[in-house]
Parts: sequence; C-alpha cells; structure tokens
Amino acid sequence: MDIDVFTLFPEWFGWFSEQRHVRNALELGTRLGYVNYREHTPLRAGQVDDTPFGGGAGMVLRVDVLDSALRARYGVDPLDLRERRRVIALTPGGRLLDEDYVQELAAEPALTLLCGRYEGFDERIVEHFASETLSIGRYVLAGGELAAMVVCDTILRKLPGALGHVGSVLEESFSEALGGAPEYPHYTRPAEYRGWRVPEVLLSGHHEQIRRWRADRSRERGEQS
Ligand code: 6GU
Repeated sequence: MDIDVFTLFPEWFGWFSEQRHVRNALELGTRLGYVNYREHTPLRAGQVDDTPFGGGAGMVLRVDVLDSALRARYGVDPLDLRERRRVIALTPGGRLLDEDYVQELAAEPALTLLCGRYEGFDERIVEHFASETLSIGRYVLAGGELAAMVVCDTILRKLPGALGHVGSVLEESFSEALGGAPEYPHYTRPAEYRGWRVPEVLLSGHHEQIRRWRADRSRERGEQS
C-alpha cells in the first residue's frame, strides 16, 4: 500500500506515524508520504488559498495550487492521475466512511488523500482532480487532517501483520465473520469485581457454547444500533 497525504500541516502526522500499528505497517512495506501544498504553490509568499467568489466567510484552497502540488509529486497532469490511483478529497459532505468503504480502500495499491482547510476546496479540484470525496461523519472538522488519520488508521490496521494478531481483524466489529454486526462484549480477570460476575458461559470452557453466546450478543447489539 502506498499512501500520500496532501496537507498544510505534515508535522501533525508525526505523532500518528509513531503509533505501533502504523509503524508495523510501515515496516511491512506500506509507504506513507506527505506533501505540503505550501511547498509547491506557484504563488508568492506561500499563498495556497483565496477568498470565495461571490463573497462569504472563510478561505478556499486554490485549484492552481493543487494542480502544482499533484504535478510535482506525480509528474503527470493531475487530470489523468485519478485513472491511475484513487485521489480522495476529504470533505464533511463526502461519501461516509464505513466498514465497506474501508475494505474497498484497503484493497487499493495506492491512495492520495487531499486535506482541505478553511472553507474547503475550489470545486474544480473535486470535479477534475479527485476521484471521489470522503467524510468521516456528519460534523465539520477544522480541516481534513484528523479525517486523513482516521482513514489511514482504519486501512493500515487491516493490512496483514499490522496488529500482530490476525484473529483480531477477522472477528471484529462490522466484520463479515460477525455478519456486519458490532462485536460481542469482552471480559477479562478478575472473574468477579464488586459483585459483578463475568457471564458463566465464558468460564465454562465449552467452545461451541461460547461461540453461540458471542454470536447472539453480537446480533443483539446489531439490532439495537
Ligand atoms: Cl473529511 N473534513 C472536514 N473538514 N470535516 C469533516 C470531515 C472531513 N469528515 C467529517 N467532518
């Protein structure tokens, strides 16, 4: 997997890149790169945004700046880029990220994530350079950076070896193994705490009963949400 994040704040990702599962993914061959729009702007004084035509609050990322940054990174006209790799503009109104979408992205060989700031992107960026728009939820973040970390986190933990324990990805919330339902509840020692007992079946050693109990709890949670 090869991921590039375009952002005005690449240094924010330092913390993210140090997380265990991210480091594992990087050691196993994933590449996570950052491009700072500001380093590729054709405008003076590092300008990357401008006031919106028609008036209104906030600033809008310029299409010529994105053109330059994408061209500098990939050496092709960005207009042709989306045929070679998915170029995803991160916007609050985009396609909602869910488990199916994550699976789809995790199967790609290469991704480009474009972080917006301020009021977002000049629409021509979305129309001509991006293959799609993605949102992590129906609320507005100050920028796409946190969303980009969410996207990378969900994808990287799916790559073989990133979590260390294969089973944890196979039978987790929303997985196929659980029929798309949330995960069953977990318990660990102590078996009793302040009078709160762990369900007896989990202490029984009856694997088939445990499997059935977990499937039932998972289904119940799915029906509630
Ligand atoms: Cl991807 N970007 C921004 N700015 N806000 C968001 C979002 C993305 N997803 C949810 N809110």
